[in-house]
Amino acid sequence: MNSTQLKGRTALVTGASSGLGADFARDLASRGSDLILVARREDMLKAVQREIQERHGVMVDGIVMDLSTEEAPQVLYDQIKAIGKTVEILINNAGFGLYGEFTDISWERERELMQTDLITLVHLTKLFVKDMLARNYGRILQVSSIGAYQPSPTYAVYSATKSFVLYFGEALNYELRNSNVSCTVISPGVTATEFLKVAGQQATLYQRLTMMQSPAVTRIGIDKMLQGRSSVVPGFLNSLLSWSNRLIPRRMSAMFAYRFMTIP
Ligand SMILES: NC(=O)c1ccc[n+]([C@@H]2O[C@H](COP(=O)([O-])OP(=O)(O)OC[C@H]3O[C@@H](n4cnc5c(N)ncnc54)[C@H](OP(=O)(O)O)[C@@H]3O)[C@@H](O)[C@H]2O)c1
Repeated sequence: MNSTQLKGRTALVTGASSGLGADFARDLASRGSDLILVARREDMLKAVQREIQERHGVMVDGIVMDLSTEEAPQVLYDQIKAIGKTVEILINNAGFGLYGEFTDISWERERELMQTDLITLVHLTKLFVKDMLARNYGRILQVSSIGAYQPSPTYAVYSATKSFVLYFGEALNYELRNSNVSCTVISPGVTATEFLKVAGQQATLYQRLTMMQSPAVTRIGIDKMLQGRSSVVPGFLNSLLSWSNRLIPRRMSAMFAYRFMTIP
């Protein structure tokens, strides 16, 4: 890996206090990028910020913000402008899942999920992509999920938001094809982070067997993003599983997904 590849560039990573977001930040810093990190848990965000600054000597700003509100993207954009930073790389990673039957999950939690995983992601993209086009350089990475590739009972709303992110990101990548700005979608399979704990799920057999480590996933995501690729599913097994959905009726995909999510 080239430690000066991204020297002088600034990357905004949402959801950087843990899991994939923290590893996206570490990976970008190892390639020389300065960072702006966003999340709600200040202590954890500061710990990631300190660790990266000490290890890689890049500039790291931390912004404590709840991205589940309608105003958050504009407030974040204005705050970044106010500190005089130019975002050239945007990693829309912040998000969470909710495990359970749709009828058992409260509207407030579903709304929070759609706002964080979907509306905020689209709004931040809308705000930053115009500046990137004006400078004719930009790289955007949208974090979807392997759940985007089929209907996923017990993660019905979560996986539907990730399907939106997948198609939105791939469509935008095409619209940007004649510029030096690109939008890449990464669709990870099960990854060892706080995701399952936050979603309220114990890992099932399928999840234990297919689980990847977060740094491996983020390295693939950053590599593909820098190449301007449209979409990537990290890991051979995950790629095979997402691709195999093309071969069977969607109702059957839903049945398999349900089993994978419920057989302990
Ligand atoms: N792990 C997996 O198996 C997996 C698979 C496919 C896709 N993904 C996706 O990967 C992304 C990262 O998740 P992860 O696996 O790394 O889980 P994680 O360890 O729980 O990290 C989630 C991150 O998002 C932040 N976040 C959540 N809600 C937020 C809000 N309202 N405002 C600001 N930040 C918020 C969290 O920070 P605070 O709590 O400090 O705010 C945390 O930094 C998510 O989009 C997830 O859907 C994960």
